[in-house]
Amino acid sequence: MSAQIIDGKAIAAKVRDRVADGVASIKAAHNYSPGLATVLVGEDPASATYVRSKQKMCENLGIRSIGHHLAADTPQADVQALVASLNSDPEVNGILVQLPLPKHIDEETILNSIDLTKDIDGFHPVNIGRLAMKGRNPLFIPCTPAGCMVLLEEAGVNLRGAEAVIVGRSNIVGLPMAMLLQKADATVTICHSRTKDLREHLQRADIVVAAIGRAEMITGDMLKPGTAVIDVGINRVDDATTKKGYRLVGDVHYESALAVAGAITPVPGGVGPMTIAMLMQNTLRAAEMAVAGRP
Ligand code: GUN
Repeated sequence: MSAQIIDGKAIAAKVRDRVADGVASIKAAHNYSPGLATVLVGEDPASATYVRSKQKMCENLGIRSIGHHLAADTPQADVQALVASLNSDPEVNGILVQLPLPKHIDEETILNSIDLTKDIDGFHPVNIGRLAMKGRNPLFIPCTPAGCMVLLEEAGVNLRGAEAVIVGRSNIVGLPMAMLLQKADATVTICHSRTKDLREHLQRADIVVAAIGRAEMITGDMLKPGTAVIDVGINRVDDATTKKGYRLVGDVHYESALAVAGAITPVPGGVGPMTIAMLMQNTLRAAEMAVAGRP
């Protein structure tokens, strides 16, 4: 039997519709539009593309987008000064510093300096710490893992007591995803490049989150029948039959996994659209907190 395909495009559209409604309500009540500041340092083409799509989505939803593009050799102090000025700007509700930053800039210092109430990426250590701890809640949850949780919920996947295996331990996806699933009462295993027997872990997983950044590394034969697969990977592979000469694939080999899994996200059209939708939701939440005058 073929798996249920989790339609990230459709689910993200629902999230965005709710955000657009929220933006309209704030505008009507306070004559104020939420504002998202983006900070891009350097010329990395993938980062530039991501930032452009975030700005475009802001426009579509009535969120003001304030773009800052700094040269690759901008000194650390200048990036910090920009964040400080955005922190104190009442027109800015959310601050997004696109990662990765150039090597000479200390990412930790920059992320630490973002005002907690404007940390719409949820990367500030206080927000991450709250996410990790029992009985505490962060102001914002990182967008990609938050989107994965919505996809699991919309697909009707039971999380309580489920065996969840996360492949990848990045600060942006793997780690916060593990914390979210644990908070939702799943039993969580984090696998990574040094894991001895990935297949063994995957074979008992009710939920697999693939976020390792290696094209089609997880194949159907590695999965337990009926498992729910969330594929965070977006990898380019050469394909001379396409116009662009490449196509996008996930970290999971889709065709073989489709035949085994109970539910699966496609690439593209799965997790990708959710990340931006959740960023918009976080920005709306920051604006709602700002107009309510409290964190
Ligand atoms: N780089 C890759 N993903 C992200 C993200 O979600 N937020 C930021 N700020 N940078 C990223």
